[in-house]
Amino acid sequence: MGFWHHLFRKRRRAQARAASSPVPAGTTAAAEAPAAPEQAGPVPLTQRRYLDDIPYLLPKDPLEDQRLNYQHHALARTLSNHYLAPLTPGIRTILDVGTGTGIWAFEMQALFPHACIVGVDVSLQSLPQPVPPTCVFVRANVLEGLPFPDAQFCYTHQRLLVAAIPSRSWPGVVRELVRVTRPGGWIELLELSDVIQPAGPATRRLLDWFTGISQQLGFEMAVLRQLGELLQQAGCVEVTSQDIPVPLGRWAGAAGQLLLTDVLHGLGALKDSYCARTTTPPAVVDAMLQEAAQEWEQQQARYVFHAAYGRRPQP
Ligand SMILES: C[S@@+](CC[C@H](N)C(=O)[O-])C[C@H]1O[C@@H](n2cnc3c(N)ncnc32)[C@H](O)[C@@H]1O
Repeated sequence: MGFWHHLFRKRRRAQARAASSPVPAGTTAAAEAPAAPEQAGPVPLTQRRYLDDIPYLLPKDPLEDQRLNYQHHALARTLSNHYLAPLTPGIRTILDVGTGTGIWAFEMQALFPHACIVGVDVSLQSLPQPVPPTCVFVRANVLEGLPFPDAQFCYTHQRLLVAAIPSRSWPGVVRELVRVTRPGGWIELLELSDVIQPAGPATRRLLDWFTGISQQLGFEMAVLRQLGELLQQAGCVEVTSQDIPVPLGRWAGAAGQLLLTDVLHGLGALKDSYCARTTTPPAVVDAMLQEAAQEWEQQQARYVFHAAYGRRPQP
């Protein structure tokens, strides 16, 4: 009771602040149609900002925030929805782990206006400013456990933390997501993969390079094909796994262009930090990326996302 009282007070305070500010309450800047990236080309590593003291491989800066919003819109267009689990309209409490720009949380708030939606992130700097008061945001490192009592949320969602959770930490993180979910509630995971279909020679070279270095850094891509198994091992029932092929490239119109921008910026950002750890010159990876992108157009490629959801059993 004290837990929810605290969260609702936090939301009421934010709503009161918003009501007295010139920004209309409920503004969800992140949910608007994506703007063109300010900087289309690669940005030197020295100009990107990264989080200290955690094993997160991607940058944390405005350019990365734009990429996350692109990715959100590419997925939303493919799924025609923001979730896969069979949620009921009366759902009251939703948790989004690794919430980033909060774009998913804000859009879910519009779909479930009576729910209290809590977003957690190790850094809240990517949220739109001022933070719209519709959702509650809490700073926490999921690798150290979530700051919530057991069995609080009807639905716990975690999306695209592939570059944040080392492979050995996945089982513990999924157990933590299940712990904070109510019996009978749903837990949903959605992640990128190392699969682009069809994959020509340049695409295979590119993926091999990225997955090889990820593995050396403790980020084994294979774990992402086992999201359903991880949910089962954590005690979930009614587990469903799904591969989601998302069109990649201009050939597929707006949705394909969104994901292309996302992938080029995402791999571009990883490239900078990976090249700093190896002897591969960035120009070599840029050339691989360019060649691979040509294949995606010629072969009408799709990037495969993995998703799984399952239910915490009733006692
Ligand atoms: C790739 S973004 C995904 C954001 C969001 N889930 C989405 O789908 O747009 C990963 C997010 O996880 C956050 N993150 C990284 N490591 C984390 C950790 N150990 N605990 C909580 N959040 C973390 C980052 O700050 C970033 O906002």
